[in-house]
Amino acid sequence: MTRKKVIFLSLLIIPVIFLFGLFIKVQDPKLWYMCPGCIVRPVHYTYDYSKNDFRILPKVHCAEDPPFLVLLVTNTHDRREAREAIRQTWGKERVIQGHKVVTYFLFGIKTDGNAKDEQDLLRESDLHKDIIQQEFQDTYHNLTIKTLMGLEWITNFCPQATYAMKTDSDMFVNPFYLVELLLKKNQTSNFFTGFLKPNDGPIRYIFSKWYISKDEYPEQKYPPFCSGTGYVFSVDVAKKIYNISSTVPYFKLEDVYVGMCLDRLKIPLQELHSKITFHPDTPQFSVCAYRNLVTSHQIPPQQIVLYWEAMERTEDEKC
Ligand SMILES: *[C@@H]1O[C@H](CO)[C@@H](O)[C@H](O)[C@H]1NC(C)=O
Ligand SMILES: *[C@@H]1O[C@H](CO)[C@@H](O)[C@H](O)[C@H]1NC(C)=O
Ligand SMILES: *[C@@H]1O[C@H](CO)[C@@H](O)[C@H](O)[C@H]1NC(C)=O
Repeated sequence: MTRKKVIFLSLLIIPVIFLFGLFIKVQDPKLWYMCPGCIVRPVHYTYDYSKNDFRILPKVHCAEDPPFLVLLVTNTHDRREAREAIRQTWGKERVIQGHKVVTYFLFGIKTDGNAKDEQDLLRESDLHKDIIQQEFQDTYHNLTIKTLMGLEWITNFCPQATYAMKTDSDMFVNPFYLVELLLKKNQTSNFFTGFLKPNDGPIRYIFSKWYISKDEYPEQKYPPFCSGTGYVFSVDVAKKIYNISSTVPYFKLEDVYVGMCLDRLKIPLQELHSKITFHPDTPQFSVCAYRNLVTSHQIPPQQIVLYWEAMERTEDEKC
C-alpha cells in the first residue's frame, strides 16, 4: 500500500468510528473514549407504580368464580398473531381437573404509535375482554413496569385466584401439566417457582441486549431469580412483591427485579419438579416431550397452533 492510500484510509476510518460512537449510548464511564459526549449516568430511583391508572381492564368474575391459575402474558400491539394463537391454544379459558385457568395480556402504550393503534386495542378488548393496559411507554426497558402492572392488577382485581404465572407471547405453555404439578405441590402461600437462576450476574459486554453498567448494578451477582420466560407464584406473593416494590430501586431486567423483591421478602425460590419443566430454551417438539413440560421458549404463533393441535389429536395415546 502506498503512503497516500494509508493516509486516505485512516481519514476515512476515523469519522466512521466517531459516527458509530454517536449512535451508542455509553453507560459505563470506563468506555468514555467511545463517545465522550454521550455518557448516560443511570439515575437510581424507585418507580411509583401506584400513580399509573389502568386504561383497559378485562371482565372478570374472580369473586364469584375464582380461577385456580391466572396466566399473565406480556404482549405488544404488533404481536396480534401471537395473541390470537394463544387465545385458541394454551391461553383459552378452560377447566382442568375442576380448576379454572384464565389468560390476560399485559400492555403499555405503543411507542411511536397513534390514536388508531390504541383504538384497535380497545376494540380487541371489547371483543375478547382479556386485555390489561396502563399508561406507560411500551419499551423493553419498561418490562419491569409491565410485570408490576400484572401484579398490581391481580392484587386489586383478582386476589381470589390461587396461583398466577407471568409469561411471554413467544412461549408454549402446557397448562394441563402445570395444574397437575401445582395440585401435587399443594403450597398456596409464599410459593415461587420457574426456571431457577441461582448464580447469575450482570452482563458487562456493552453490545449485549442485557448489558448492565457498574453504575446500574455494582455487584458481581444477582440475587437468585427465575427466568422471565415463565414463572409461577401463589397470589399472596404478587401482593407482597407489589407492596415491597415501592422500596426496591427500579431495575430494567424484570426477572432480576422480581428476584430482588423476593430476596427482600425472604421468599425462597422452589423447584416444582425434580426434572426441569420450565424450559427457557426450545426443546425439540414431540407430543410426549411437550406433555411433560410447562414452558418452551421462542415458539412462533403458527408453531404454537401446530404443536397444540398435535397434542389434542393424540390426547388418548400413552407416552
Ligand atoms: C417508561 O415509561 C415511562 C412512562 O411512560 C416513560 O416516561 C419512560 O421514558 C419509559 N422508559 C423507557 C426506558 O422507555
Ligand atoms: C394440601 O395442604 C393442606 C394444608 O395446607 C391440606 O389440608 C390438604 O389436605 C392438602 N391436600 C392435598 C391433596 O395434599
Ligand atoms: C407493605 O409494605 C409495608 C412497608 O413498606 C409494610 O409495613 C406492610 O406490612 C406491607 N403490607 C403487606 C400486606 O405486605
